Amino acid sequence: MIINPLKSLRFRIFLLVFITGLISCLAIHFAIIESYEDRAVSVRESEVSTQLMILANHLINYSYFSDTSSDVINAELDLLANLYDGRVMVIDDNLQIRKDTYGISDGKIIISEEVVDILKKGSSASTAVYDKNNNYIEMTAPITETLTYESGDVAAGAGGTQDVVRGVLLISVSTEYIDTTMDILTRRAMIIEIIAFILLLVVAWFMSGKLLRPFDTVTAAISDVKAGYTNEPIPSSKYLETEHIITAFNQLLQRMNALDESRQEFVSNVSHELKTPITSMKVLADSLISQEDVPSEVYRDFMEDIAAEVDRENQIINDLLELVKMDKKATALNISSVDVVEMMEVILKRMRPIAEKQNIEMTLETTREITAEIDEVKLSLALMNLVENAVKYNKENGFVKVKLDADHQYFTCKISDSGIGIPEDSIDRIYERFYRVDKSRSREIGGTGLGLAITHSAILMHRGTIEVESKENEGTTFTVKIPLMYMQSME
Ligand SMILES: Nc1ncnc2c1ncn2[C@@H]1O[C@H](COP(=O)(O)OP(=O)(O)OP(=O)(O)O)[C@@H](O)[C@H]1O
Ligand SMILES: [Mg+2]
Repeated sequence: MIINPLKSLRFRIFLLVFITGLISCLAIHFAIIESYEDRAVSVRESEVSTQLMILANHLINYSYFSDTSSDVINAELDLLANLYDGRVMVIDDNLQIRKDTYGISDGKIIISEEVVDILKKGSSASTAVYDKNNNYIEMTAPITETLTYESGDVAAGAGGTQDVVRGVLLISVSTEYIDTTMDILTRRAMIIEIIAFILLLVVAWFMSGKLLRPFDTVTAAISDVKAGYTNEPIPSSKYLETEHIITAFNQLLQRMNALDESRQEFVSNVSHELKTPITSMKVLADSLISQEDVPSEVYRDFMEDIAAEVDRENQIINDLLELVKMDKKATALNISSVDVVEMMEVILKRMRPIAEKQNIEMTLETTREITAEIDEVKLSLALMNLVENAVKYNKENGFVKVKLDADHQYFTCKISDSGIGIPEDSIDRIYERFYRVDKSRSREIGGTGLGLAITHSAILMHRGTIEVESKENEGTTFTVKIPLMYMQSME
Protein backbone atom coordinates (compact mmCIF):
# COMPACT_ATOMS: atom_id res chain seq x y z
CA MET A 1 0.00 0.00 0.00
CA ILE A 2 1.39 3.41 -0.98
CA ILE A 3 0.70 6.01 1.67
CA ASN A 4 0.60 9.63 0.65
CA PRO A 5 2.81 11.29 3.30
CA LEU A 6 0.80 14.51 3.10
CA LYS A 7 -2.20 12.60 4.40
CA SER A 8 -0.32 11.71 7.56
CA LEU A 9 -1.03 14.06 10.44
CA ARG A 10 2.30 13.13 11.96
CA PHE A 11 4.15 14.23 8.83
CA ARG A 12 2.28 17.51 8.81
CA ILE A 13 3.02 18.25 12.45
CA PHE A 14 6.64 17.30 11.81
CA LEU A 15 6.80 19.66 8.85
CA LEU A 16 5.15 22.46 10.80
CA VAL A 17 7.52 22.21 13.76
CA PHE A 18 10.53 21.83 11.52
CA ILE A 19 9.73 24.73 9.19
CA THR A 20 8.77 27.04 12.05
CA GLY A 21 12.05 26.24 13.79
CA LEU A 22 14.05 26.72 10.62
CA ILE A 23 12.45 30.03 9.72
CA SER A 24 13.00 31.50 13.18
CA CYS A 25 16.60 30.26 13.11
CA LEU A 26 17.27 31.93 9.76
CA ALA A 27 15.43 35.08 10.79
CA ILE A 28 17.60 35.41 13.89
CA HIS A 29 20.71 34.78 11.80
CA PHE A 30 19.97 37.53 9.28
CA ALA A 31 18.70 39.97 11.87
CA ILE A 32 21.90 39.64 13.92
CA ILE A 33 24.32 39.87 10.97
CA GLU A 34 22.40 42.75 9.39
CA SER A 35 22.16 44.72 12.60
CA TYR A 36 25.83 44.15 13.28
CA GLU A 37 26.69 45.67 9.90
CA ASP A 38 24.41 48.68 10.38
CA ARG A 39 25.78 49.33 13.79
CA ALA A 40 29.44 48.94 12.76
CA VAL A 41 28.96 51.34 9.84
CA SER A 42 27.16 53.95 11.92
CA VAL A 43 29.78 53.79 14.70
CA ARG A 44 32.48 54.27 12.14
CA GLU A 45 30.65 57.17 10.51
CA SER A 46 30.17 59.05 13.74
CA GLU A 47 33.83 58.52 14.74
CA VAL A 48 35.06 59.79 11.40
CA SER A 49 32.67 62.71 11.32
CA THR A 50 33.98 63.93 14.72
CA GLN A 51 37.54 63.64 13.45
CA LEU A 52 36.60 65.58 10.31
CA MET A 53 35.09 68.41 12.33
CA ILE A 54 38.19 68.75 14.49
CA LEU A 55 40.37 68.64 11.40
CA ALA A 56 38.27 71.26 9.59
CA ASN A 57 38.77 73.59 12.56
CA HIS A 58 42.51 73.06 12.50
CA LEU A 59 42.61 73.79 8.77
CA ILE A 60 40.96 77.16 9.34
CA ASN A 61 43.11 77.94 12.37
CA TYR A 62 46.31 77.21 10.45
CA SER A 63 45.01 79.06 7.35
CA TYR A 64 45.73 75.93 5.39
CA PHE A 65 44.31 77.29 2.12
CA SER A 66 46.87 80.14 2.00
CA ASP A 67 49.73 77.82 2.86
CA THR A 68 49.40 74.08 2.35
CA SER A 69 52.87 73.28 3.54
CA SER A 70 51.98 73.19 7.25
CA ASP A 71 53.70 70.08 8.62
CA VAL A 72 51.36 69.82 11.55
CA ILE A 73 48.27 69.72 9.38
CA ASN A 74 49.80 67.43 6.75
CA ALA A 75 50.86 65.02 9.47
CA GLU A 76 47.37 65.15 10.90
CA LEU A 77 45.85 64.39 7.48
CA ASP A 78 48.20 61.45 6.93
CA LEU A 79 47.49 60.15 10.41
CA LEU A 80 43.75 60.23 9.77
CA ALA A 81 44.17 58.48 6.41
CA ASN A 82 46.33 55.78 8.00
CA LEU A 83 44.08 55.36 10.98
CA TYR A 84 41.08 54.52 8.85
CA ASP A 85 43.00 52.84 6.08
CA GLY A 86 41.68 55.39 3.60
CA ARG A 87 42.29 58.53 1.62
CA VAL A 88 41.76 62.15 2.62
CA MET A 89 41.42 65.09 0.24
CA VAL A 90 41.20 68.80 1.01
CA ILE A 91 39.29 70.79 -1.62
CA ASP A 92 39.06 74.55 -1.78
CA ASP A 93 36.11 76.67 -2.81
CA ASN A 94 37.21 76.53 -6.47
CA LEU A 95 36.78 72.72 -6.49
CA GLN A 96 40.53 72.36 -6.68
CA ILE A 97 42.15 69.55 -4.77
CA ARG A 98 44.72 71.17 -2.53
CA LYS A 99 45.86 68.01 -0.76
CA ASP A 100 45.47 64.31 -1.49
CA THR A 101 47.00 61.86 0.97
CA TYR A 102 47.56 59.48 -1.92
CA GLY A 103 49.48 62.30 -3.59
CA ILE A 104 48.09 61.60 -7.04
CA SER A 105 45.36 64.20 -7.53
CA ASP A 106 46.97 67.35 -6.09
CA GLY A 107 45.91 70.44 -8.04
CA LYS A 108 43.20 68.70 -10.00
CA ILE A 109 39.60 69.87 -10.15
CA ILE A 110 37.01 67.58 -8.59
CA ILE A 111 33.42 67.47 -9.71
CA SER A 112 31.61 65.29 -7.22
CA GLU A 113 27.96 65.87 -6.45
CA GLU A 114 28.40 66.03 -2.68
CA VAL A 115 31.33 68.46 -2.94
CA VAL A 116 29.53 70.72 -5.42
CA ASP A 117 26.46 70.68 -3.17
CA ILE A 118 28.45 71.98 -0.22
CA LEU A 119 30.51 74.56 -2.10
CA LYS A 120 28.08 75.93 -4.62
CA LYS A 121 24.74 75.48 -2.92
CA GLY A 122 26.03 76.30 0.55
CA SER A 123 24.80 73.04 2.13
CA SER A 124 26.34 72.85 5.59
CA ALA A 125 25.56 69.21 6.31
CA SER A 126 28.25 66.57 6.15
CA THR A 127 27.35 63.50 4.10
CA ALA A 128 28.21 59.83 4.34
CA VAL A 129 27.68 57.19 1.65
CA TYR A 130 28.30 53.53 2.36
CA ASP A 131 29.37 51.52 -0.66
CA LYS A 132 28.76 47.98 0.46
CA ASN A 133 30.11 46.28 -2.65
CA ASN A 134 33.47 48.10 -2.70
CA ASN A 135 33.78 48.15 1.06
CA TYR A 136 34.19 51.82 1.82
CA ILE A 137 32.36 54.78 3.27
CA GLU A 138 32.77 58.10 1.51
CA MET A 139 32.23 61.12 3.73
CA THR A 140 32.34 64.85 3.20
CA ALA A 141 32.45 67.72 5.70
CA PRO A 142 32.40 71.45 5.02
CA ILE A 143 35.36 73.53 6.18
CA THR A 144 33.65 76.52 7.67
CA GLU A 145 35.12 79.78 8.91
CA THR A 146 33.12 81.92 11.31
CA LEU A 147 33.59 85.63 10.66
CA THR A 148 32.82 88.12 13.43
CA TYR A 149 31.66 91.66 12.64
CA GLU A 150 31.91 94.68 14.92
CA SER A 151 28.61 96.43 15.51
CA GLY A 152 28.33 99.33 13.08
CA ASP A 153 30.08 97.42 10.35
CA VAL A 154 28.67 98.44 7.01
CA ALA A 155 28.19 94.98 5.52
CA ALA A 156 26.47 93.33 8.47
CA GLY A 157 24.53 96.36 9.60
CA ALA A 158 23.85 95.39 13.21
CA GLY A 159 27.02 93.31 13.72
CA GLY A 160 27.31 89.55 14.71
CA THR A 161 28.76 86.40 13.14
CA GLN A 162 28.59 84.75 9.72
CA ASP A 163 29.69 81.27 8.57
CA VAL A 164 31.59 81.10 5.32
CA VAL A 165 32.41 77.78 3.61
CA ARG A 166 36.06 77.80 2.59
CA GLY A 167 36.34 74.24 1.31
CA VAL A 168 35.48 70.61 1.74
CA LEU A 169 37.12 67.63 3.40
CA LEU A 170 36.56 64.42 1.47
CA ILE A 171 37.48 61.06 3.01
CA SER A 172 37.01 57.49 1.98
CA VAL A 173 37.20 55.03 4.85
CA SER A 174 37.76 51.35 4.28
CA THR A 175 35.20 48.99 5.80
CA GLU A 176 37.22 45.88 5.06
CA TYR A 177 37.29 44.94 8.75
CA ILE A 178 33.43 44.98 8.96
CA ASP A 179 33.34 42.48 6.13
CA THR A 180 35.93 40.28 7.76
CA THR A 181 34.08 40.29 11.06
CA MET A 182 30.84 39.47 9.24
CA ASP A 183 32.49 36.55 7.49
CA ILE A 184 33.62 35.13 10.81
CA LEU A 185 30.22 35.67 12.33
CA THR A 186 28.46 34.00 9.39
CA ARG A 187 30.76 31.01 9.55
CA ARG A 188 30.10 30.55 13.26
CA ALA A 189 26.37 30.99 12.72
CA MET A 190 26.49 28.33 10.00
CA ILE A 191 27.96 25.79 12.38
CA ILE A 192 25.32 26.62 15.00
CA GLU A 193 22.63 26.43 12.35
CA ILE A 194 23.71 23.00 11.14
CA ILE A 195 23.57 21.72 14.72
CA ALA A 196 20.16 23.39 15.20
CA PHE A 197 18.98 21.87 11.93
CA ILE A 198 19.84 18.34 13.03
CA LEU A 199 18.38 18.96 16.48
CA LEU A 200 15.21 20.32 14.90
CA LEU A 201 14.85 17.25 12.71
CA VAL A 202 15.13 14.95 15.71
CA VAL A 203 12.92 17.05 18.01
CA ALA A 204 10.24 17.57 15.32
CA TRP A 205 10.15 13.84 14.57
CA PHE A 206 9.84 12.80 18.21
CA MET A 207 7.42 15.56 19.06
CA SER A 208 5.08 14.70 16.19
CA GLY A 209 5.17 11.10 17.32
CA LYS A 210 4.53 11.94 20.94
CA LEU A 211 1.71 14.37 20.16
CA LEU A 212 -0.11 11.73 18.16
CA ARG A 213 0.36 8.86 20.59
CA PRO A 214 -3.12 9.23 22.18
CA PHE A 215 -4.62 8.81 18.70
CA ASP A 216 -2.67 5.59 18.23
CA THR A 217 -3.90 4.38 21.62
CA VAL A 218 -7.50 5.11 20.63
CA THR A 219 -7.08 3.37 17.29
CA ALA A 220 -5.60 0.32 18.99
CA ALA A 221 -8.45 0.23 21.53
CA ILE A 222 -11.07 0.51 18.79
CA SER A 223 -9.33 -2.25 16.83
CA ASP A 224 -9.52 -4.48 19.90
CA VAL A 225 -13.26 -3.95 20.11
CA LYS A 226 -13.62 -4.50 16.37
CA ALA A 227 -11.67 -7.74 16.56
CA GLY A 228 -14.03 -8.85 19.31
CA TYR A 229 -11.43 -9.18 22.12
CA THR A 230 -13.43 -6.94 24.36
CA ASN A 231 -16.75 -5.18 24.68
CA GLU A 232 -15.60 -2.84 27.42
CA PRO A 233 -15.76 0.94 26.92
CA ILE A 234 -12.43 2.57 26.01
CA PRO A 235 -10.81 4.40 28.96
CA SER A 236 -10.66 8.18 28.71
CA SER A 237 -7.72 9.89 27.07
CA LYS A 238 -5.33 12.82 27.38
CA TYR A 239 -6.69 15.22 24.80
CA LEU A 240 -10.07 16.84 24.37
CA GLU A 241 -10.12 15.73 20.73
CA THR A 242 -9.43 12.08 21.45
CA GLU A 243 -11.83 12.32 24.38
CA HIS A 244 -14.58 13.32 21.90
CA ILE A 245 -13.80 10.35 19.68
CA ILE A 246 -13.79 8.03 22.67
CA THR A 247 -17.10 9.36 24.00
CA ALA A 248 -18.74 8.95 20.61
CA PHE A 249 -17.30 5.48 20.19
CA ASN A 250 -18.35 4.38 23.69
CA GLN A 251 -21.87 5.56 23.03
CA LEU A 252 -21.89 3.58 19.81
CA LEU A 253 -20.58 0.56 21.67
CA GLN A 254 -23.24 0.94 24.33
CA ARG A 255 -25.95 1.05 21.67
CA MET A 256 -24.48 -1.96 19.94
CA ASN A 257 -24.40 -3.90 23.19
CA ALA A 258 -27.98 -2.93 24.00
CA LEU A 259 -29.06 -3.97 20.52
CA ASP A 260 -27.26 -7.25 20.86
CA GLU A 261 -28.89 -7.90 24.21
CA SER A 262 -32.38 -7.09 22.98
CA ARG A 263 -31.87 -9.27 19.93
CA GLN A 264 -30.81 -12.19 22.09
CA GLU A 265 -33.72 -11.62 24.42
CA PHE A 266 -36.08 -11.43 21.48
CA VAL A 267 -34.82 -14.65 19.95
CA SER A 268 -35.08 -16.51 23.26
CA ASN A 269 -38.57 -15.09 23.80
CA VAL A 270 -39.68 -16.11 20.33
CA SER A 271 -38.41 -19.63 20.69
CA HIS A 272 -39.96 -19.93 24.12
CA GLU A 273 -43.33 -18.71 22.90
CA LEU A 274 -43.27 -20.97 19.88
CA LYS A 275 -42.24 -23.95 21.96
CA THR A 276 -45.04 -23.67 24.50
CA PRO A 277 -47.94 -24.70 22.19
CA ILE A 278 -45.78 -27.46 20.70
CA THR A 279 -45.01 -28.83 24.15
CA SER A 280 -48.73 -28.87 24.98
CA MET A 281 -49.51 -30.66 21.71
CA LYS A 282 -46.78 -33.19 22.42
CA VAL A 283 -48.14 -33.87 25.91
CA LEU A 284 -51.67 -34.27 24.57
CA ALA A 285 -50.59 -36.53 21.73
CA ASP A 286 -48.34 -38.65 23.97
CA SER A 287 -51.09 -39.29 26.48
CA LEU A 288 -53.37 -40.41 23.66
CA ILE A 289 -50.70 -42.78 22.32
CA SER A 290 -49.90 -44.27 25.71
CA GLN A 291 -53.51 -45.21 26.37
CA GLU A 292 -55.12 -48.11 24.69
CA ASP A 293 -58.74 -48.19 23.59
CA VAL A 294 -59.35 -44.53 24.19
CA PRO A 295 -63.02 -43.64 23.92
CA SER A 296 -63.78 -41.52 20.92
CA GLU A 297 -65.11 -38.61 23.08
CA VAL A 298 -61.75 -38.37 24.81
CA TYR A 299 -60.04 -38.49 21.40
CA ARG A 300 -62.25 -35.69 20.24
CA ASP A 301 -61.59 -33.69 23.39
CA PHE A 302 -57.83 -34.02 23.04
CA MET A 303 -57.94 -33.30 19.35
CA GLU A 304 -59.87 -30.07 20.01
CA ASP A 305 -57.19 -29.04 22.51
CA ILE A 306 -54.50 -29.79 19.97
CA ALA A 307 -56.34 -27.75 17.33
CA ALA A 308 -56.58 -24.85 19.80
CA GLU A 309 -52.81 -25.03 20.37
CA VAL A 310 -52.25 -25.00 16.59
CA ASP A 311 -54.42 -21.88 16.37
CA ARG A 312 -52.39 -20.26 19.09
CA GLU A 313 -49.13 -21.12 17.38
CA ASN A 314 -50.55 -19.71 14.18
CA GLN A 315 -51.58 -16.51 15.94
CA ILE A 316 -48.11 -15.99 17.39
CA ILE A 317 -46.50 -16.55 14.00
CA ASN A 318 -48.90 -14.11 12.33
CA ASP A 319 -48.24 -11.47 14.97
CA LEU A 320 -44.50 -11.90 14.55
CA LEU A 321 -44.78 -11.56 10.80
CA GLU A 322 -46.84 -8.42 11.25
CA LEU A 323 -44.16 -6.95 13.49
CA VAL A 324 -41.38 -7.81 11.09
CA LYS A 325 -43.31 -6.16 8.30
CA MET A 326 -43.69 -2.97 10.34
CA ASP A 327 -40.04 -2.99 11.34
CA LYS A 328 -38.97 -2.86 7.76
CA LYS A 329 -38.61 0.80 6.81
CA ALA A 330 -39.37 -0.06 3.21
CA THR A 331 -42.95 -0.98 3.98
CA ALA A 332 -44.70 1.93 2.42
CA LEU A 333 -47.94 2.82 4.06
CA ASN A 334 -51.01 2.31 1.97
CA ILE A 335 -52.44 5.78 2.55
CA SER A 336 -56.03 6.71 1.73
CA SER A 337 -58.71 9.03 3.03
CA VAL A 338 -60.54 7.13 5.74
CA ASP A 339 -63.64 7.89 7.77
CA VAL A 340 -62.22 7.33 11.24
CA VAL A 341 -65.58 7.19 13.04
CA GLU A 342 -66.80 4.47 10.73
CA MET A 343 -63.56 2.55 11.14
CA MET A 344 -63.96 2.68 14.94
CA GLU A 345 -67.53 1.47 14.71
CA VAL A 346 -66.38 -1.59 12.76
CA ILE A 347 -63.72 -2.36 15.38
CA LEU A 348 -66.21 -2.12 18.24
CA LYS A 349 -68.67 -4.29 16.38
CA ARG A 350 -66.05 -7.01 16.01
CA MET A 351 -65.24 -6.89 19.73
CA ARG A 352 -68.84 -6.80 20.91
CA PRO A 353 -69.43 -10.61 21.18
CA ILE A 354 -66.37 -11.02 23.44
CA ALA A 355 -67.36 -8.03 25.55
CA GLU A 356 -70.86 -9.32 25.98
CA LYS A 357 -69.56 -12.54 27.48
CA GLN A 358 -68.32 -10.54 30.45
CA ASN A 359 -71.20 -8.12 30.30
CA ILE A 360 -68.90 -5.23 29.49
CA GLU A 361 -70.55 -2.10 28.17
CA MET A 362 -68.87 -0.55 25.12
CA THR A 363 -69.61 3.04 24.08
CA LEU A 364 -68.37 5.31 21.31
CA GLU A 365 -68.46 9.05 21.71
CA THR A 366 -67.76 11.43 18.81
CA THR A 367 -68.35 15.14 18.36
CA ARG A 368 -67.85 15.49 14.64
CA GLU A 369 -67.01 13.70 11.42
CA ILE A 370 -63.36 12.82 11.09
CA THR A 371 -61.58 11.98 7.86
CA ALA A 372 -57.85 11.30 7.93
CA GLU A 373 -55.13 10.17 5.54
CA ILE A 374 -54.06 6.86 7.07
CA ASP A 375 -53.28 3.25 6.26
CA GLU A 376 -56.63 1.79 7.22
CA VAL A 377 -55.47 -1.81 7.70
CA LYS A 378 -52.49 -0.98 9.92
CA LEU A 379 -54.12 1.70 12.05
CA SER A 380 -57.28 -0.36 12.40
CA LEU A 381 -55.16 -3.24 13.69
CA ALA A 382 -53.44 -0.87 16.12
CA LEU A 383 -56.68 0.48 17.59
CA MET A 384 -58.20 -2.97 17.56
CA ASN A 385 -55.40 -4.23 19.81
CA LEU A 386 -56.10 -1.41 22.27
CA VAL A 387 -59.83 -2.15 22.38
CA GLU A 388 -59.08 -5.85 22.67
CA ASN A 389 -56.83 -5.22 25.67
CA ALA A 390 -59.44 -2.93 27.23
CA VAL A 391 -61.93 -5.79 27.05
CA LYS A 392 -59.50 -8.57 27.97
CA TYR A 393 -58.04 -6.90 31.04
CA ASN A 394 -61.41 -5.72 32.31
CA LYS A 395 -63.74 -6.90 35.07
CA GLU A 396 -67.18 -8.37 34.84
CA ASN A 397 -69.87 -5.67 34.31
CA GLY A 398 -67.15 -3.16 33.48
CA PHE A 399 -67.07 -0.64 30.66
CA VAL A 400 -64.94 0.38 27.69
CA LYS A 401 -65.32 3.98 26.53
CA VAL A 402 -63.96 5.12 23.19
CA LYS A 403 -63.85 8.86 22.54
CA LEU A 404 -62.94 10.36 19.16
CA ASP A 405 -62.09 14.00 18.67
CA ALA A 406 -60.12 16.18 16.23
CA ASP A 407 -58.64 19.62 15.77
CA HIS A 408 -57.33 21.02 12.51
CA GLN A 409 -54.10 19.01 12.71
CA TYR A 410 -54.68 15.79 14.61
CA PHE A 411 -57.41 13.41 15.60
CA THR A 412 -57.31 11.76 19.00
CA CYS A 413 -58.72 8.47 20.14
CA LYS A 414 -59.12 7.87 23.88
CA ILE A 415 -59.79 4.29 24.97
CA SER A 416 -60.64 3.99 28.64
CA ASP A 417 -61.57 0.88 30.57
CA SER A 418 -62.62 -0.03 34.09
CA GLY A 419 -60.18 -2.93 34.24
CA ILE A 420 -57.39 -4.22 36.39
CA GLY A 421 -54.98 -1.43 35.44
CA ILE A 422 -51.22 -1.61 34.85
CA PRO A 423 -48.78 -1.44 37.79
CA GLU A 424 -46.53 1.64 37.71
CA ASP A 425 -43.28 -0.25 37.36
CA SER A 426 -44.55 -2.06 34.27
CA ILE A 427 -45.93 0.92 32.42
CA ASP A 428 -42.66 1.72 30.64
CA ARG A 429 -42.32 -1.81 29.34
CA ILE A 430 -45.74 -2.64 27.90
CA TYR A 431 -44.69 -1.78 24.33
CA GLU A 432 -41.84 -4.32 24.42
CA ARG A 433 -42.31 -7.44 22.39
CA PHE A 434 -43.56 -10.36 24.51
CA TYR A 435 -43.91 -8.22 27.59
CA ARG A 436 -46.88 -9.15 29.77
CA VAL A 437 -47.55 -7.82 33.24
CA ASP A 438 -48.88 -11.05 34.64
CA LYS A 439 -47.71 -14.01 32.61
CA SER A 440 -50.06 -16.57 34.12
CA ARG A 441 -53.10 -14.38 33.75
CA SER A 442 -52.20 -13.45 30.20
CA ARG A 443 -51.75 -17.08 29.36
CA GLU A 444 -55.20 -17.78 30.68
CA ILE A 445 -56.61 -15.03 28.51
CA GLY A 446 -54.42 -16.08 25.64
CA GLY A 447 -52.03 -13.17 25.12
CA THR A 448 -48.50 -13.30 23.77
CA GLY A 449 -47.46 -9.73 24.53
CA LEU A 450 -47.08 -8.71 20.90
CA GLY A 451 -50.29 -6.65 20.59
CA LEU A 452 -48.98 -3.35 21.98
CA ALA A 453 -45.65 -3.73 20.15
CA ILE A 454 -47.58 -3.89 16.89
CA THR A 455 -49.80 -0.96 17.93
CA HIS A 456 -46.79 1.14 18.89
CA SER A 457 -44.93 0.68 15.62
CA ALA A 458 -48.07 1.24 13.52
CA ILE A 459 -48.70 4.54 15.30
CA LEU A 460 -45.08 5.63 14.91
CA MET A 461 -45.28 4.88 11.19
CA HIS A 462 -48.14 7.37 11.03
CA ARG A 463 -45.99 9.88 12.94
CA GLY A 464 -48.46 9.78 15.76
CA THR A 465 -48.09 9.40 19.54
CA ILE A 466 -49.49 7.04 22.13
CA GLU A 467 -49.79 7.76 25.85
CA VAL A 468 -51.07 5.67 28.69
CA GLU A 469 -52.50 6.50 32.08
CA SER A 470 -53.41 3.76 34.48
CA LYS A 471 -54.35 3.06 38.07
CA GLU A 472 -54.27 -0.46 39.39
CA ASN A 473 -57.74 -1.92 39.98
CA GLU A 474 -59.38 1.24 38.65
CA GLY A 475 -58.71 1.26 34.96
CA THR A 476 -56.51 2.32 32.07
CA THR A 477 -56.74 5.03 29.43
CA PHE A 478 -54.75 4.93 26.19
CA THR A 479 -54.63 8.18 24.18
CA VAL A 480 -53.60 7.96 20.53
CA LYS A 481 -52.91 11.09 18.50
CA ILE A 482 -52.55 10.84 14.71
CA PRO A 483 -51.96 13.64 12.14
CA LEU A 484 -54.91 14.15 9.79
CA MET A 485 -52.60 14.67 6.83
CA TYR A 486 -49.93 12.09 6.17
CA MET A 487 -46.45 13.59 5.99
CA GLN A 488 -44.03 11.87 3.66
CA SER A 489 -40.90 11.06 5.61
CA MET A 490 -37.87 13.16 4.77
CA GLU A 491 -35.48 10.21 4.48
N1 LIG B 1 -56.08 -2.07 29.08
C1 LIG B 1 -55.21 -2.74 29.82
N2 LIG B 1 -55.46 -2.95 31.16
C2 LIG B 1 -54.58 -3.64 31.90
N3 LIG B 1 -53.43 -4.19 31.45
C3 LIG B 1 -53.14 -4.01 30.14
C4 LIG B 1 -54.00 -3.30 29.28
N4 LIG B 1 -53.45 -3.30 28.03
C5 LIG B 1 -52.29 -3.98 28.13
N5 LIG B 1 -52.11 -4.43 29.39
C6 LIG B 1 -50.96 -5.19 29.89
O1 LIG B 1 -49.90 -5.05 28.95
C7 LIG B 1 -49.43 -6.30 28.48
C8 LIG B 1 -49.04 -6.22 27.05
O2 LIG B 1 -50.16 -6.04 26.22
P1 LIG B 1 -50.14 -6.63 24.77
O3 LIG B 1 -51.42 -6.27 24.10
O4 LIG B 1 -48.89 -6.20 24.14
O5 LIG B 1 -50.05 -8.19 25.01
P2 LIG B 1 -51.17 -9.24 25.31
O6 LIG B 1 -52.47 -8.57 25.34
O7 LIG B 1 -50.73 -9.95 26.55
O8 LIG B 1 -51.01 -10.23 24.10
P3 LIG B 1 -51.52 -10.01 22.59
O9 LIG B 1 -52.12 -8.66 22.53
O10 LIG B 1 -50.29 -10.17 21.81
O11 LIG B 1 -52.48 -11.09 22.36
C9 LIG B 1 -50.60 -7.21 28.72
O12 LIG B 1 -50.15 -8.52 28.91
C10 LIG B 1 -51.22 -6.66 29.99
O13 LIG B 1 -50.56 -7.17 31.12
MG1 LIG C 1 -53.17 -7.41 23.67
